[in-house]
Order: sequence, then C-alpha cells, then structure tokens
Amino acid sequence: MSGRLFSFVGGNTGPWRVMKNSVIVGESLSAVPKLDIVSGAGTVEKPLTGWSLRGITSNERYVMRDEKNQLVAKQQGLGRPEATMAALIPLRKSAAWWALTQDERRKLFEEQSHHNQIGMQYLPAIARKLHHCRDLSENEPFDFLTWFEFAPEHEGVFDQLLEELRASEEWQYIEREVDIRLVRADA
Ligand code: HEM
Repeated sequence: MSGRLFSFVGGNTGPWRVMKNSVIVGESLSAVPKLDIVSGAGTVEKPLTGWSLRGITSNERYVMRDEKNQLVAKQQGLGRPEATMAALIPLRKSAAWWALTQDERRKLFEEQSHHNQIGMQYLPAIARKLHHCRDLSENEPFDFLTWFEFAPEHEGVFDQLLEELRASEEWQYIEREVDIRLVRADA
C-alpha cells in the first residue's frame, strides 16, 4: 500500500515552484513557494509555514470497459521532459454527493456531466493522476488530490478544460477547490 500513498508538501523545498495559488470555492491553502511530493507510508511533518496533504491511488470507480480502453490508448504518463508545468487541484465534494448511491454518482459523473468525454478531448496533452483521501482518516481536508502535467504551450488548453468541467453538474457538488499552478524548478 505504501507505493500508492503520496504526500503533497507545500513549504520551502521541493522540485516544483508555485506560480499561482487560487481558491475556487471554500477555504484557501496558505501561500508557499515550493511543493514536494513524497511517496510512501512515512509520516510527513507539516512544514512550519505550509501544509501537507495525503492521498492514495486506488481502483477506478466509474469508467466502463470501452472508456477505459480509449483512455489507455490515448493517455500519457507523468514525467514527460516537455511537461514542465503542473497543477495540483485538491477537491472536496459535499455530503449530498456522498449520500448518493454508486449508480447515481456514475450517472451524474458521466451521463449528465460528461466528465470523461470532456477530459478525453484533452489527451494526450494533459497527463493526470488521481489520489483519494477519504478513506485515510476521519478528517482529511479534501476528498481528492488531482495532479496534472503539461507543456507550457498547453496551459491555455488546460484552463479551457477546467472551464468546461467547472460548468458541469458534477461541480455543483464541489464545496472546496484550490487551484495551485506549478513550474518545474529546473525548467
Ligand atoms: C485531463 C483530462 C481528464 C480526464 C481524461 C479525466 C478522466 C477521469 C476519469 C475517467 C475519472 C474516473 C476514474 C474512476 O473510474 O474512478 C475521473 C475522476 C475524477 N476526475 Fe477527472 N479527468 C480529467 C480531468 C480532470 C480535471 C481537470 C479535474 C479537476 C479539476 C478532474 C477531477 C477528477 C476527480 C475529482 C475525479 C474523482 C471523481 C469521484 O470519484 O467522485 N479530472 N477523471
């Protein structure tokens, strides 16, 4: 399990430089100059002035087989040399979302909001990784830590993707969202 657990540590060190830290909805995260990503089960201390968010990669909940096949054929992995920009977008969904049943959530996610259908149009330019927080403890500040990497020329395209998703029905269930933009410190 430790290989699936990641801590995103906002502080004074790390390979990613924070360019922008915007609250979209709900409470903000304090401004920090750098971001480090630490993998493994060791406890990561919260920096004196900063934060540490934990998430775990998991099995998929919503994709159907044909969607999965299309994703696998089109998506790119993290760490591409040209992808010197990134976004960390921690999200929390409302109690109303979590009170829905699995089939109701899938319907909202795809049939009504077209999350995957929209997202697929932005592959392979945008690489993504989803981390879940809910099952780690009783009171994690977010439900998801989403991570995206892209080349500087695709920053506008990434903003367009966010605009489309934020206008969807699924996003009416988002009660906390912070958008942190980063650039690789060696870029
Ligand atoms: C780059 C294009 C994108 C594609 C192809 C994509 C695709 C997907 C897919 C297939 C899932 C379902 C995984 C599962 O079956 O459990 C998912 C989940 C999710 N995505 Fe995206 N996505 C994209 C962009 C984004 C963006 C930009 C955000 C946030 C700003 C985002 C936030 C999420 C969240 C929070 C979940 C988990 C939803 C839940 O379990 O309730 N995605 N995405």
